[in-house]
Amino acid sequence: MAYAAVRSSALFGTAGAAIVVAMEPPLDIVPAPDRSGAPRWQALAPHGSVAGVAGLWPVTPFGLDFLLPTAPVTRPGAAELRVYVAPRWRRRGVGSRLLTAVREQTAVPCLVSYVAVGSPEERFYARHGFSHTRSWRHELLTYGDVHQAWLGELVDAEHPGYRLSHWTGDLFGAPRVEDLLRSPSRPGDAVWTAADADGDVGAYVVAVVGTPSGGRAHQYGPVVLPGHRGRRLSRWVNAALIQRLREVHPQVTEIETAGAADDRHLLATLRHLGFRPLRRTSVYELWDGAPS
Ligand SMILES: CC(C)(COP(=O)(O)OP(=O)(O)OC[C@H]1O[C@@H](n2cnc3c(N)ncnc32)[C@H](O)[C@@H]1OP(=O)(O)O)[C@@H](O)C(=O)NCCC(=O)NCCS
Repeated sequence: MAYAAVRSSALFGTAGAAIVVAMEPPLDIVPAPDRSGAPRWQALAPHGSVAGVAGLWPVTPFGLDFLLPTAPVTRPGAAELRVYVAPRWRRRGVGSRLLTAVREQTAVPCLVSYVAVGSPEERFYARHGFSHTRSWRHELLTYGDVHQAWLGELVDAEHPGYRLSHWTGDLFGAPRVEDLLRSPSRPGDAVWTAADADGDVGAYVVAVVGTPSGGRAHQYGPVVLPGHRGRRLSRWVNAALIQRLREVHPQVTEIETAGAADDRHLLATLRHLGFRPLRRTSVYELWDGAPS
């Protein structure tokens, strides 16, 4: 179904009489599913030019959030909403109409959007009744800033009862850390480092590289499991991962990671290792019915 989007505006002279009436061209909001059938919409201007797009994606805030037991996943059935309006079409109701079409034409119980802190998108989603539910901090480590001898000392430091192990390969499904570490390494995009005490995993962290030529890897974690906290394991496994990643993928020049903005322990670990602030993201959610 197509929705005609027409907005008119009038300018008034000092006597209150309309002196200009400008009618903006009508827009059609049309479903435009991608090749796999995933839900997408387009706002089509006259002559078929695209004024804006919207779409729904599975909720994977960090890309591989299933790796993190504390991953901020929302209620089941939630979908990530992305809306983009071409700059010359902004503030003319196009984003609102795309959002209306998404809500009318899908039965998703919760829409989630990840937006840069302080961006116009924050005001757009707030205006449409979305709630700000979380804030994330994105951090970046540049290998050129890391003193290799210092890193080596961190990795070599004793942690009585624990040993480090590594695994490389490609990730499929939602593997358990214990299973991965028991299986043989093979060539692949993911590098895991874990600290275990007699097979009991205490902490782990994983990095995934992108395209073969890509210099930026994405890190998930570190995660320290209950019963193993307070032993500097996060710093240890992360230092070891930074070292290992460069051995396995020498083309990597930097590592990006993200975590809850209020996770002071994670931030302290990252800063100690040389990660620097990159950007902040706000999470906005709209529930169909009461928030869970
Ligand atoms: C956020 C975005 C989708 C809004 O689209 P839009 O068509 O301009 O939005 P609308 O005209 O429907 O705005 C609806 C309301 O949202 C709020 N709003 C939208 N943009 C705003 C801005 N720049 N400043 C303040 N409020 C804003 C206003 O309340 C506005 O109502 P008003 O114009 O009556 O005041 C658009 O700015 C955009 O595409 N930004 C870039 C998004 C992006 O990069 N996404 C990447 C992921 S795909």
